[in-house]
Amino acid sequence: EPIKGHVTFNHVTLTYTKDDDSALKDICFDAPPGKVIGLIGSTGAGKTSITQLITRFYEPEIGEVLVDNRSVKDYNIKTLRKHIGFVLQEPFLFSTTIKENIAYGNPDVTDHQIMDAAKRAQAHEFIMNLPNGYETMLGERGMGLSGGQKQRIAIARAICINPSILVLDDATSAVDMETEFKIQKALKEVMQGRTSFIIAHRISSLKHADEILVLDEGQIVERGTHDELLNNDGQYKRIYDI
Ligand code: CTP
Ligand code: MG
Repeated sequence: EPIKGHVTFNHVTLTYTKDDDSALKDICFDAPPGKVIGLIGSTGAGKTSITQLITRFYEPEIGEVLVDNRSVKDYNIKTLRKHIGFVLQEPFLFSTTIKENIAYGNPDVTDHQIMDAAKRAQAHEFIMNLPNGYETMLGERGMGLSGGQKQRIAIARAICINPSILVLDDATSAVDMETEFKIQKALKEVMQGRTSFIIAHRISSLKHADEILVLDEGQIVERGTHDELLNNDGQYKRIYDI
């Protein structure tokens, strides 16, 4: 049964270790299918934790996380994860070919789909410029790639599973402006029709989000669109002014 990608958090509290303060406190939001949610806030604020609750990487202590109005607890975990694409801050690559890096974990994917995903991730061009193209070996004894190239491979991999929910955890960190622009362009296209969570430190990547959640010490301290938040004169505005 297809997943539409409607994500709801109802009063979610997450505690990693019993004697620690909660990493997330009473988080509530509703992300309708296809909408773009931006997450911003200082390091340790809880941005990654929110996205990891959707895949049931962790379980909340209090409250519930719903996908399509059904608790994530009631899903088969493999089925659930098949519908969620993650682009992590530190993209991981395997010591195998570029092709297999993109198709990873997906035996049914065709060469055509791999190439299409790479094109949409703005990766096809640089891959074709490598001596062995899609057959280029990566990793220890293979090619090294730049940070931006790795991120685009990771984006292509996420597209390949055709997810209903897409999580971009700082996907454009640590790249030069031109590469960031290319990745942004790729992501914009990739996010079409998918519920997307964009975690960013730079406000430029969040401007077009349907709703931005500003987190501080595990709590949502502000929420709204870019324009609304600038009018608020709160934490978002202060980040913007830096
Ligand atoms: N944390 C923890 N155990 C984990 C993951 C996180 O105790 N396995 C804690 C962190 O130390 C932090 C809080 O949970 O105090 C929130 O972490 P995280 O969600 O990773 O914060 P981010 O907002 O994603 O921080 P960053 O910008 O640095 O990625
Ligand atoms: Mg994080």
